[in-house]
Amino acid sequence: MKKDFLAITDWTTEEIQQTIELAKSLKARLRNRETFHPLQGKTLAMLFQKPSARTRVSFETAMYQLGGYTIFLSPIEVGLGKRESPADVARVLSRYNDGIVARLFEHHFIVELAEFASVPVINGLTDFNHPCQVLSDLMTIEEHLGRFQDFKIAYIGDGNNMVHSWLNAASRLSMTFHMAVPEGYDPDNDVLQLAQDAGKSEIQIFRDPKKAVEHADIIYTDVWASMGQEKEAEKRKKVFKNYQVNDEILKHAGSQVKVMHCLPAHRGDEITDHVMDGPHSIVFDEAENRMHLQKAILFRLMQDQ
Ligand code: CP
Ligand code: NVA
Repeated sequence: MKKDFLAITDWTTEEIQQTIELAKSLKARLRNRETFHPLQGKTLAMLFQKPSARTRVSFETAMYQLGGYTIFLSPIEVGLGKRESPADVARVLSRYNDGIVARLFEHHFIVELAEFASVPVINGLTDFNHPCQVLSDLMTIEEHLGRFQDFKIAYIGDGNNMVHSWLNAASRLSMTFHMAVPEGYDPDNDVLQLAQDAGKSEIQIFRDPKKAVEHADIIYTDVWASMGQEKEAEKRKKVFKNYQVNDEILKHAGSQVKVMHCLPAHRGDEITDHVMDGPHSIVFDEAENRMHLQKAILFRLMQDQ
């Protein structure tokens, strides 16, 4: 049976752990310049409705390094939900390709793609979540802290798609997940409830970022206005102005803290240059690991296709 990756909660704790281990070994193989082509002859369709640097380039490079090939489809080609239904697109791409990565606005479209595709569907971000980012962030955390569980992460900013994937992770792995989110910008209540009910993690919403970051191992942030929310950007700048990751916030966390950002960053808004380019920042290790981790996802899901 084909397996999809639409959310962190699609996978068990063991599967998450195995994928991180596999990603680490693939990273080591690449460093040793070993050729590894388990996906030779396989193709991956990449259906993108939104812009992307990391997700597109990391998947394309990952697939190439595994011996496979990618076909990039911009909204102009496919017109998902307008020119053609997600169900029909899924059926057609499954006749050509061995896997599909999709970056979409509406989450229900990726669920529909997965339902009707006979090949694995991987979520490259929707308005609702971004599982590939958080899974690779867990790998980065493991590299820097020596563990991918039992750490404290403080997220500062919007209760958006990144937070939903972090909450999903917190329902599979044990962590302290403290969010500092302005009133009115909390994450989806069902996702929050699910993570709390799983009983693995200690999860709290704060309004004061200084309180949220106390003793944090990781401070994590993201843009204040996500892709698709451009019209709200000016309003959000005012709402979020006290939710900036800067030197003052870092002081409240302690000298051990590492800073992460999924990128792209709006420097001077949610994060200062000084923090982003400073000694606590691990944002470019984080960006690099997208590729290694996604190689592990592609290998797991597509090797038997
Ligand atoms: N972090 C991330 O997904 O980056 P892109 O939007 O550039 O793909
Ligand atoms: N929340 C951001 C994440 C970008 C990787 C967005 O959806 O634009």
